[in-house]
Amino acid sequence: PRSWLVVPAAGIGQRMRADCPKQYLTISDRFVLDITLSRLMSIMAWQGCVVALSSTDRWWPASESAADGRIDTCVGGSDRADSVLASLQYLSGRAAEQDWVLVHDVARPCIHRDDVLRLVSQLADHPVGGLLAAPVADTIKEVTPGTQQVAGTMDRGRLWRALTPQMFRYGPLMAALHRGVRDDPESITDESSAMERDGQMPEVIAGRADNIKITVPEDLALAEFILSRQAS
Ligand code: C5P
Repeated sequence: PRSWLVVPAAGIGQRMRADCPKQYLTISDRFVLDITLSRLMSIMAWQGCVVALSSTDRWWPASESAADGRIDTCVGGSDRADSVLASLQYLSGRAAEQDWVLVHDVARPCIHRDDVLRLVSQLADHPVGGLLAAPVADTIKEVTPGTQQVAGTMDRGRLWRALTPQMFRYGPLMAALHRGVRDDPESITDESSAMERDGQMPEVIAGRADNIKITVPEDLALAEFILSRQAS
């Protein structure tokens, strides 16, 4: 089966306290979005690539990626799952049921080529698919909602941080996201959660812990440091 790339980039980045969405903040004079997309586009020959943008996006035309004829755009939705669904719908008629779709957050510019290639090769024959993930290093507490009271400690040995790309088959992913968004939108925070809700068992592929998601302002400097280290 062929592989398609979907990049949700329709977030407005409220936690960044910036004047523009975080994917349009710059590292060494390049948009985060351009760093992420140029890395992904150079790793392998995708069957096609769709980037979901906000209907209020004013920056895309100024990006390097806008000039890349291999990249299509569509209008995203009000949360991440809606944006991914819109991208999958954009591919309908072109993607086959069993084709692979890799979904990668635009806000993870430090994605490393080796991780993507390992994900693709290790899951090539997998019936369901899976995701890059990293073992949790901190001790994780469960806290009773509305209080500051610790209700328990999770068994750290069983916990992984979900990263992206996440890789699933086109038809099953679209069906799972559709049902998840319709029935239980709050619980669908990534593609894997939608597949799990559908009774599937995705596989985790150990990925680099430096595949961070830019979320708060401090993360931008950290990403810049990671990128400079990877280049050297
Ligand atoms: O806000 P957060 O960091 O969780 O967003 C994760 C990814 O989902 C980002 O790539 C963001 O642009 C994307 N997103 C989207 N549409 C939304 C909200 C988030 O494509 N409505």
